[in-house]
Parts: sequence; C-alpha cells; structure tokens
Amino acid sequence: MTTVDGPRPLRSQQWWDNPAHPDMTALYLERYLNFGLTGAELQSGRPIIGIAQTGSDLVPCNRHHLALADRVRAGVRDAGGIPLEFPVHPLQETGKRPTAALDRNLAYLGLVEILYGYPLDGVVLTTGCDKTTPACLMAAATVNLPAIVLSGGPMLNGYVDGRRAGSGLIIWQSRRLLAAGKIDYAEFMDRVSRSATSTGHCNTMGTALSMNSIAEALGMTLPGCAAIPAPYRERAQIAYDTGYRAVGLVRENLTPKAIMTREAFENAIVVASAIAGSTNCPIHVNAIARHVGVDLRNSDWESVGGSVPILANCAPAGDYLGEDFYHAGGVPAVLHALLSAGRLHADAMTVTGRTIGENIAGAASTNPDVIADYDKPFGPRGGVLVLHGNVFSSGMMKMSVITEELHARYLTSPALTWRAVVFDSPEDYHRRIDDPTLDIDEDCILVVRNSGNIAYPGSAEVVNMQPPTELIMRGIEAIPTLGDGRQSGTADAPSILNISPEAAVGGNIAILRTGDRITLDIPNHRLDVDLTDEEIAERWREYEPPPLDHQTPWQELFRRYTGQMDTGSCLDFATAYQDIVVTKGMPRDSH
Ligand code: FES
Ligand code: MG
Repeated sequence: MTTVDGPRPLRSQQWWDNPAHPDMTALYLERYLNFGLTGAELQSGRPIIGIAQTGSDLVPCNRHHLALADRVRAGVRDAGGIPLEFPVHPLQETGKRPTAALDRNLAYLGLVEILYGYPLDGVVLTTGCDKTTPACLMAAATVNLPAIVLSGGPMLNGYVDGRRAGSGLIIWQSRRLLAAGKIDYAEFMDRVSRSATSTGHCNTMGTALSMNSIAEALGMTLPGCAAIPAPYRERAQIAYDTGYRAVGLVRENLTPKAIMTREAFENAIVVASAIAGSTNCPIHVNAIARHVGVDLRNSDWESVGGSVPILANCAPAGDYLGEDFYHAGGVPAVLHALLSAGRLHADAMTVTGRTIGENIAGAASTNPDVIADYDKPFGPRGGVLVLHGNVFSSGMMKMSVITEELHARYLTSPALTWRAVVFDSPEDYHRRIDDPTLDIDEDCILVVRNSGNIAYPGSAEVVNMQPPTELIMRGIEAIPTLGDGRQSGTADAPSILNISPEAAVGGNIAILRTGDRITLDIPNHRLDVDLTDEEIAERWREYEPPPLDHQTPWQELFRRYTGQMDTGSCLDFATAYQDIVVTKGMPRDSH
C-alpha cells in the first residue's frame, strides 16, 4: 500500500488499493467510478474526506449545507484530498414528531456505521439544528476518525415592530399576547414568520447556537465558526477552509479523542455558562463526553460552570441575536474574556493543530453591549443550578432566564414552598390549564410528567408551560414549572427540568398529586415534596403506570436501550464502543 506523508496507511486504501486482495479492490473500486471518479484518482493515496450532510428539505435549519458542501469540496480538493458527500438521518427540531430527541441516537447509530464501514479517512461534520451537532460529534467520538465541524450558522436577525424577534422566543412571547387577547391569530402567525428571515438555524442563543458554540469551545471547529450567519460570505469561506483543514487532520492523524479531552469539556461548560446556553447542552455534552471516554456529569456543570457570569447578551437571556453576536466577536471573544479571567484551559488542543489559547490571541470583544468583559458581566450566573431531592436524583434550573422578581424571591428566601398542580401529560396540561377549579395562582408550581425519554418517547420540550390565561391577563407571565421533559433552549421560562429518573422508570414525579407541597431550597440545592418515605411507598403501591405504546420499531428499541437525561440520554450499551477504528480494527470484507 502507498502511504501519504509518513508511515501510516490510509484506511481508504484498504478498500481501493489493497495488493493483498486485488479482486476485492476491483469490487470496491468499480462502482465509485460510475459518476466520473477515475481509478487513478482513488488509488493516488489521497485522503478520502466524507462530508456528513445534515441538510435537506426536511431540515431547513441546515439546508444551506447543501450549497456550502461545494465550498467544502473545493477546500478538500485544493488540500489534496477527495471529498465524498453522504446524507445523515434528518434531525429537525420543530418538524419531527413525536420529538427530534428520539432520533438523535438513531442518527448517531447511522453515522457510526457510515464512518466505520465506508472508505473514509476523515470527515467534515455539517451541523446546525439542535440535535445535528451532538449526533455528529457523538458518532465521530465513537469511531475516532479525524473530524472537523462546520456549523451552518444562524439566520439573519428578525425584527417585529422595529425590535429584534428571536427564533423560538418570539413564539413563546407572542403566544402570551395571543392568550391575553392583545393580538389575533393572523398577527401571531405574522410575528412568528418574521423570525425566520433566511437560511440558517435559530438566531437566538437556543440549543442550535449554544451547541455550535460548544463545538467551537471543544476545539472541534475552526476559530469563529459558530457565529457566522448562514448567508454571509464568511460562512462559505469558512466552509472552504474547513474542507481544506480536514485533509491536514488526516495527515496529522489528529483525532477527536486528542481534542475532546476533560479540559476541553471543562472549557465547553464554562462557555455554555458564559453564553447562558440552552438547558439541552448538559444532556448533549455529557453524551459526547461518554462516547469519547470522558467522565462528565451534571455535577460538573455546577462545579465548573456554576459561578461563571453571563458574558453574552443574547436572547432568550439577553437582548441580541446571532448577527450581533458575530459582529461582537462570537465565540473567540467569549473565550478571550474567559481566558483573561483565568477561566479557560488555554492548552487544550483544537482542530487547527494549535491550542485554543493560541487560536484566540487578540480576539477581544468589539462590542461590550453584546459580549462583555469578565468583570462587567450582564448577570451574575449564566449556568444551571443542579438540584436533587426526594422527587428526583438530578434536575436543573437555568438561572439566567428567571425574571428579576422571581430571582429576588428565589435568592432571598432560604426556601420557597409551592402548591403543586399536576398534569399527567402535555395533552392533559392543554386540556385543563384554564380549568377554574384548579385555582392556580402565583403560589403554585405546574408539574408535567410522562414527558421524558422513555414515556414520550424521546424527551419533549414541554416543561415551559405558560400560566392560565386568567393569570396572564393579570400580568403574571410566568410561574414555576417542574417536569420530566425538557424545554426549548429559546424559552425564557423559570423551569425545573431534565429531571432523572423520569416517571416512566420509577421517578417519584410519578406519584405527585395536585395539592402536594413542594419546596425549593436553593442554598442546599434541593427540591422536595412534603411526604414521608412511607407516604411515598404507599402511593407507589396504589400507582398504575400509563401504558407505553410503541408506534414504530425504533421507538421500541429506543425505549429498551436509552438511558436518562442526567447521563446524556445515550444508548447506554453504545458507550462501551470507544475508538473503534483502533480497538475493533477493520470491518470484514463485504464479499
Ligand atoms: Fe432548527 Fe432551531 S429549530 S435550529
Ligand atoms: Mg428545541
């Protein structure tokens, strides 16, 4: 076999240029010639770079990648590689029913199989919409093939009445106006549509922009990649640079395992806090860590990220959107502020082949209204508060989106006690929220259960429940909520969410009843229901679990193998597969 720049044979050559098996070489090679590639090309010893395409008509948030792939291909070619583009199972957050979360692990499984089973030496991971980024990184981690992330970038800013209208957030805000009778349905639709301005993913600091910022903080993108708006020329330019660099990664054999280290994950957590990132990030980042063999838990989000102030003034926690974030310096400016405060592991390696500290030298914020210095933050606490107690063993609350009034109450009272109003499902919530006999007021906590991984299936973003219309009319826009599902990263609701274990696997949220007293004790990081162990046991004896109906074969498999949110909602058995191109060697010949 020929080799490139050193002794290490490329794995693609074991398909296309294997003197030990000339007949198999012929079989592997011939079909790839049928669209114009030549045998000489494929046997030239040039790295084969996959382009994992997550864009399609079903995934509008990433659809721009179909065009960007041309620039990736040009970059790969100019660096001496050969690009091969292939589809990833579609993952679109708002369009997939029952949830895109159900499909994250399916896309992961599919991509592992592709990266391992086809003649690829490296891969460009095209990311954007919420679950595409973790699914791609989880798969690259498992296989440990040289990999680089190309974000698709946020949509351009949207505006309603001259003010910024952020993706997702405008829906949550406008549905409160609709409920209060201040706008009609046509106006509601118009406001919502104005937030979808262009190609690209959500322009708020929702899960998409948070996860792409995290991919950059992990060292898996070129510097500055996350924030460039999708339609900007710089986006197409970084697509070219990313393709070009992918070839270098293969030649240097710089793999995800060498980049996504414990230090890199701590950098990611610190950045997630500084940008007041989505509550979906801990789930996805813990999952990526498990697949790359790093032990990361929810407690790390509290101990590493809990004290990090808010440095990015982006919706839903702040005022600005993706374009503003980009012009202020994007993720490099956030990293720069964190580095000056000693909050970053500057030595963490990145896909550039240089450390993250080297990458961001001179990258200070250019607009302190959007990205602040560490000592002049927009808020004291951008991270999550990790909770436990007798209702769940792990749950969390996003501190950055709690209204000032609630913040004052939460932080000044040693403990807050609410009366629970319990809904068995999101459908039950919608049916009964305006029922006057529930007598819901600002001293209540709304509880929704059966919305986690196993019950839903694939946890649903339903915990950000709005109060009854009657309260909204009185100006009470939010009351506390608790649930075993998630909420949108674009939501501004004061929720206690992502709880593990969920009702369907024996979590005590299953036996809560309307009227129970629930106490949040922030100093001790506890949330408890006022019931004795014996009372809880008695309720379990009376408990009738709701039936789980599998609507598709994948739902059944997912339910059988998927863990809880605190450990990343992984297919637990899959986390035993580490660095498989090395530990498992080559897959067998196909014929
Ligand atoms: Fe796809 Fe927000 S719905 S990025
Ligand atoms: Mg979402």
